[in-house]
Amino acid sequence: MKGIYKFNFDNVLKDKIGETGISIDEIDELRDFTNLAKANVTKKYEKGELGFIEVLNEDLEIYEEVKELSKEFDYIIIIGIGGSILGSKAIHQGIYGSSNTYHPKVFYLDNSDPEKIYETLKAVKLEKTLIFVISKSGNTVETLANYFVIKKHMDKNNITPAKPNFVAITGGGLLQKIADKEGYMCYKVPENVGGRFSVLSAVGLAPLACLNVDIHNLVKGAKKMNDICQTDNIFRNPALLNSLIHYKMDNTGKKISLMMPYIGRLHQFGMWYRQLWAESLGKDGNGQTPVIALGATDQHSQLQLYMDGPEDKIMTFLKVNSFKQDYSIETDYDSDLKGHKLSELINSEQLGTEKSITEKGIPNVKITLSELNEYTLGMLTYSYELQTAYSGELFCINAFNQPAVEHAKKLSHAVLKGSIVEKSYNEIKIE
Ligand code: PA5
Repeated sequence: MKGIYKFNFDNVLKDKIGETGISIDEIDELRDFTNLAKANVTKKYEKGELGFIEVLNEDLEIYEEVKELSKEFDYIIIIGIGGSILGSKAIHQGIYGSSNTYHPKVFYLDNSDPEKIYETLKAVKLEKTLIFVISKSGNTVETLANYFVIKKHMDKNNITPAKPNFVAITGGGLLQKIADKEGYMCYKVPENVGGRFSVLSAVGLAPLACLNVDIHNLVKGAKKMNDICQTDNIFRNPALLNSLIHYKMDNTGKKISLMMPYIGRLHQFGMWYRQLWAESLGKDGNGQTPVIALGATDQHSQLQLYMDGPEDKIMTFLKVNSFKQDYSIETDYDSDLKGHKLSELINSEQLGTEKSITEKGIPNVKITLSELNEYTLGMLTYSYELQTAYSGELFCINAFNQPAVEHAKKLSHAVLKGSIVEKSYNEIKIE
């Protein structure tokens, strides 16, 4: 499997967007700053702190057993939340889209919304369903709750699949205890792999292998990006360059990082990026708010604001040159569309938007993939993991913790136990 990844940064340069931009000389002058960030990431890796890089060398044969087991099933449910599920969702939809018409069908339980689990239970036959329960801590309430509800439902209704149908992926906590007691097939989440950086570990690879994603090519793409990003030459290192660009733009008030893919299959990738960027860098009063829009759909919903609203955004366009399917637009009516393909239309819309926002002086970068397959998606995914790690260094932020999320988890526990109760003094009630 092959594919080309291109990172274009013309439209952040001063000669394109004026004073808010950055010049090639300036990027060059910041060489010591960016090299230090890169060296610090390497140091952390060498100290064994960055499991998201280490996992690239994992033996992928360990996923053969679960892949073999999955052949007994027609449905897969993935239970998890945040970093434990967003990556597999992004990669699966990146390859297969969101129609859920492929075998096995996949359902994501990533919320404690009772209606969601009801709909899922209606859509699957549990005796034909392989269920992944994924939680690094093993204690996340939403994940445990969904597991308990499904397990009880199966026990009460005497649903007994031909083969054991629970697979746990965890680093400890209650989920590990359950897996040991129940004898579930279990994959380990290494301590040094952070939740939102875990898509290329068992967290993403085990379910993706069962969903017929070619994990070998996915990791091959990631490794290629890792090799490319070993250079100190920032103009050859897209992760480092994009990190610096976002840093510089943040310093000039571009507090929103807007990602706009022009292919539906990358929309969920945007949601994965949204967590990675927000949870890694949103600390101590810092951080750029990630926003995801879908081209061309959101040109008719959001673009007015992006172009004419506050000047607080840096945009990233994601596009592909070749689509899996394409259609010629044929009509007897007199129309400019006649004779064009849908792929040409969507890519023209991308270019048109890019031109107009550049004219407005809005900084933007573009990543073009020759096509969207496991290899190019591996490159893209890993480039953002590395970019986030570099950004932590540039912003002097620990990109790998999430104190606010942990605090919210504690408060949810306290509410459940009754030590915090809801009180409202100021509200408008209408009956
Ligand atoms: O990135 C993170 O650390 C978080 O988003 C976690 O992935 C999320 O809170 C789920 O945690 P866990 O995997 O422990 O269930």
